[in-house]
Amino acid sequence: MFGDIPERVLEQMRRLEAIDARDRVDGTPRDKRLRQIPPETAKFLAIVASSTPQGNFVEIGTSAGYSSLYLGLACRERGVRLTTFEVLEEKAHMAQETFRLAGMDDIIKVIVGDAREYLSGLNGISFCFLDAEKEVYLECYELIVPKLVRGGLLVADNVISHAETLQSLVDRAMADRRVDAVVVPIGRGELLCRRILNGRE
Ligand SMILES: C[S@@+](CC[C@H](N)C(=O)[O-])C[C@H]1O[C@@H](n2cnc3c(N)ncnc32)[C@H](O)[C@@H]1O
Repeated sequence: MFGDIPERVLEQMRRLEAIDARDRVDGTPRDKRLRQIPPETAKFLAIVASSTPQGNFVEIGTSAGYSSLYLGLACRERGVRLTTFEVLEEKAHMAQETFRLAGMDDIIKVIVGDAREYLSGLNGISFCFLDAEKEVYLECYELIVPKLVRGGLLVADNVISHAETLQSLVDRAMADRRVDAVVVPIGRGELLCRRILNGRE
């Protein structure tokens, strides 16, 4: 996948997979757990991200940088950079260290803070992965969709695992004339929204 993934990137992926698996069973408090997407979802994201039109790559919810590493592979292939937002300082530092050890700190930039404070300042987004607290999804959706280039994608995690909480987001996307939307039953369920190519706004 994406040619030969450098061993130092694979090492970081394996390291984070081991921490995440341990977190889920050893009683680590929620704010300390990595809460990563599964490897299959990560590969899915990287493949769809690498097929989007030219534009900027954004991630909301970095944790220690596992999903970012996969998105970074798509960025490397495309010659673009990923901007990823993490509200918790400790996790943002973990992610910075992940990217440094993986040799991807020139491709992935972590911004420490609440993504909602930055999203209106972004433009020309071709790919956005939304994986934060569920309470902010709808607000992030409304901020991101107008910033997507035509054919650009917004993917939101957990729409099957948290179906009830995220039903209003799914309903909003399905009825939104600016995007074509579908729920993909992979991992915890991904809402995939593509900004329409032409015609209606
Ligand atoms: C499910 S984890 C992200 C996992 C990561 N995408 C991965 O798969 O490796 C969610 C992260 O989003 C962060 N977060 C929550 N709300 C946020 C916000 N409004 N802006 C930025 N980060 C946020 C949390 O601190 C947490 O680390």
